[in-house]
Amino acid sequence: MRVAGEHHRTVRLAGNVVRVIDQRLLPWRFEFLDLASVDAAAHAIREMAVRGAGCIGATAGFAMTLAAREADSWRELEKLAGLLKATRPTAVNLAWAVDRQIEAIREAGFDRRVETAVMTAQAIADEDAAACEAIGRHGLDIIRAIAARNPGRPVNILTHCNAGWLAFVDTGSATAPVYAAHAAGIPVHVWVDETRPRNQGARLTAWELAQEGVPHTVIVDNTGGHLMQHALVDMVITGADRVSRAGDVANKIGTYLKALAARDNGVPFYVALPSSTLDWSLRDGVAETPIERRGEGEVTHLEGVTAGGRVESVRVVPEGSPAANYAFDVTPARLVTGLITERGVCAAEEGAIRALHGKTA
Ligand code: MRU
Repeated sequence: MRVAGEHHRTVRLAGNVVRVIDQRLLPWRFEFLDLASVDAAAHAIREMAVRGAGCIGATAGFAMTLAAREADSWRELEKLAGLLKATRPTAVNLAWAVDRQIEAIREAGFDRRVETAVMTAQAIADEDAAACEAIGRHGLDIIRAIAARNPGRPVNILTHCNAGWLAFVDTGSATAPVYAAHAAGIPVHVWVDETRPRNQGARLTAWELAQEGVPHTVIVDNTGGHLMQHALVDMVITGADRVSRAGDVANKIGTYLKALAARDNGVPFYVALPSSTLDWSLRDGVAETPIERRGEGEVTHLEGVTAGGRVESVRVVPEGSPAANYAFDVTPARLVTGLITERGVCAAEEGAIRALHGKTA
């Protein structure tokens, strides 16, 4: 997507380093971060310099090129792969990308590990970008239908967290239909949940939408239900970090509450995801999804910029009060209107998901 009119991807190879956008600095500064070792890549993922399911998957894919250079035995390569996989547990794209690299290298042979890893990493990134584009096309049909029922006013879409291009290689999942509708001249307006504790909505989604000139309004996380009660939301679109084969959706903490409010108010609740976010091994997402718990500091403190332009972190919780930081929750499939994937839209239901992916039994 474009930043100040110039096209960027969130992650790519630059010579022998992996170049990412440092998302910890947004929206105050747009800067790149070069990752020259597996350790540096693991640190960047853990500390969320790179974040979002597709983006950490692609970054881990590229980091495997560093692993291939660093490792002089299979044992070492597998150890480095394990290090990357252990960085963040919930988004399945990360483990998926690392496993795909291991499989490709196993097939090509250890001696061909570097060129194989480079080719595979590039394929993962290109496929991610293409999938998001296709999600945009399929989601556009849904937005177009809503617009046709409400001529003369914008389609109001609520989203949670950042499932935009920053969370992928390009375009994004939840934002892809929005960008497609905007480009097609359909008036849209996005309600952006701020998404405590790290404020990915307020900091990243709002910044992205502004770069693309998409009308939007940032709201605090608890506003969505009120807006839905007053017919100010036509649809919800969120992303996903892991979707079970039955269609249960793990996504940023707070998503479940939006889905409940949407159901109570008859608002369609869509989830956009590339197929790399499906975890076929999971049936019951609520019971089986590994939920990341992060440090208390993300809850007890808030980061922002002062009037003088200095980025500062302030404490918002009394000293001594403990805080809990569950990073994700799971929305049961029964609350999901549909899954928007690169293959098309389907019900959040095992048979429909299997059929869309050409899987029988
Ligand atoms: O913790 P993050 O920022 O890596 O969380 C992931 C997310 O941004 C959201 O849950 C998003 O909706 C899914 S990622 C496409």
